Amino acid sequence: MSKLIKEKENIEKTNGSVQLKSSLTKWQYSPAPESTDHIHLEKQYGLFINNQFVKPLSGKYFDTINPATEEKIAEIAEADEKDVDKAVQAAKTAYEKYWKKLPAKEKAKYIYRIARMIQERSRELAVIESMDGGKPIRESRDIDIPLAANHFFYYAGWADKLQYAFSNRNPQPIGVTGQIIPWNFPLLMAAWKIAPALACGNTVVLKPAETTPLTALKLAEIIRDCDLPPGVVNIITGAGKTGAAIVKHPLVNKIAFTGSTEVGKIIQKAIAGTNKKLTLELGGKSANIIFDDAPINEAVEGIINGIFFNQGHVCCAGSRLFVQESVYDEVVRKLKHRMKSLIVGDPLDKNTDIGAINSKQQLEKIHYYLDLGIKEGASIYQSDCKLPSKGYFCPPTLFLETSQSHRIVQEEIFGPVLTIQTFRTVEEVIEKANNTPYGLAAGVWTDKGSKIFNMTSKMRAGVVWANTYNKFDPTSPFGGYKESGFGREGGLHGLLPYLNL
Ligand code: NAI
Ligand code: MG
Repeated sequence: MSKLIKEKENIEKTNGSVQLKSSLTKWQYSPAPESTDHIHLEKQYGLFINNQFVKPLSGKYFDTINPATEEKIAEIAEADEKDVDKAVQAAKTAYEKYWKKLPAKEKAKYIYRIARMIQERSRELAVIESMDGGKPIRESRDIDIPLAANHFFYYAGWADKLQYAFSNRNPQPIGVTGQIIPWNFPLLMAAWKIAPALACGNTVVLKPAETTPLTALKLAEIIRDCDLPPGVVNIITGAGKTGAAIVKHPLVNKIAFTGSTEVGKIIQKAIAGTNKKLTLELGGKSANIIFDDAPINEAVEGIINGIFFNQGHVCCAGSRLFVQESVYDEVVRKLKHRMKSLIVGDPLDKNTDIGAINSKQQLEKIHYYLDLGIKEGASIYQSDCKLPSKGYFCPPTLFLETSQSHRIVQEEIFGPVLTIQTFRTVEEVIEKANNTPYGLAAGVWTDKGSKIFNMTSKMRAGVVWANTYNKFDPTSPFGGYKESGFGREGGLHGLLPYLNL
């Protein structure tokens, strides 16, 4: 039976400690919006080819909107097959004429320069990221933009050391790389793709997602201002058709894709039988596992960070929570209490914890799963926060009384929606956690180091966090098992897909 639980918690006494009434727990903050005066945006953007913004041959444009206000921000060029060809030809010429021949230490200087310029313009980039994609400014300012710069710094360091990374294996560039990225970490995903490609001596045609093209276009300005040889990085915009044209182009030697498993499979089929290299970073339904010996307050913070960070628009989000039976009541009570204090609203407000859902389409998908969860018989709990009257917003949501067979437990929702289940033994939780077509990430919370090592070796997940969640670093490889994709990004492993050995 489905129930909508919206309880009013009274003062509770547990273990002698007094829990405050929920209504008292939400601090009232005055709005603290980040200013937008310092940013500069064009009304219309062309395609970035050969270090210039050019009008699309297609003659077509689409709007990118601010998902928190539903207002149009700018018009963006839509590249068709001819435009894609122009960008790929530019990348091919740049590869043969300049980039392949340039000494590695000179390449490193360019990559380093991009990193520095991202840092210099970080405030502007952070604001634009939040406006175009809906993520809270605290995240774009403190996570996305610094990590993007760090990625360029890190791979600048590898550019002239490839023969040490792969000694006696004669590392050689591949040529032109086609890179297609999603909307959840727009600038960061561009950095993940472009930095290792350049460090390994390849040239690039990158396509950002259609709902979040702006920071990639700002990165194009940075690349131009860094005087990178024309055509080394080309950034072209459009939707799925544009992406498909990049995949299909005969002069593209490698495709790097991050996005849905569905499109990943289409791409894999499209390049079957060609000698194009491929890396796929796809969806996830990652398990966050809380043992009874875990520090519960910290674990609750980790659960919150695991699923509500970036509105749950995270491929490795800890969307399936497993709690050991003996601490289930305590975890649920503390989790609900913490969920009530989360502030949902204006992404540009520094107090905001949960910003706007990236698009109307994505909000509809999340609503579909909220209805489905209720139909499947789970209990839904949502914080009673007030949502803004305009824009695409969703309150943090918890589904209780779920089972392994529920679709809300099996399928990627990509929103601030958490399912919770219990377990008794280590074997049981490993089996449950691995019972998914995905295998991107997992979290383990326990006081015991031996338990952590036991779990990490048995979890079929590319990343396993211990007593933390959603932490990223350029030196650490990231990628999935099973339907979460293949190939690694970040670290020394992240060089491999961009080299012939
Ligand atoms: P998507 O996979 O359609 O979009 C990702 C990128 O691929 C975009 O740049 C898009 O323009 C491009 N694309 C779309 N069709 C293509 C094709 N046939 N050939 C080449 N490129 C193509 O993802 P979408 O529709 O935006 O989101 C749907 C679901 O995918 C989400 O609800 C979420 O579950 C999942 N997703 C997973 C991501 C991840 O990081 N693993 C990121 C974004 C979405
Ligand atoms: Mg947008």
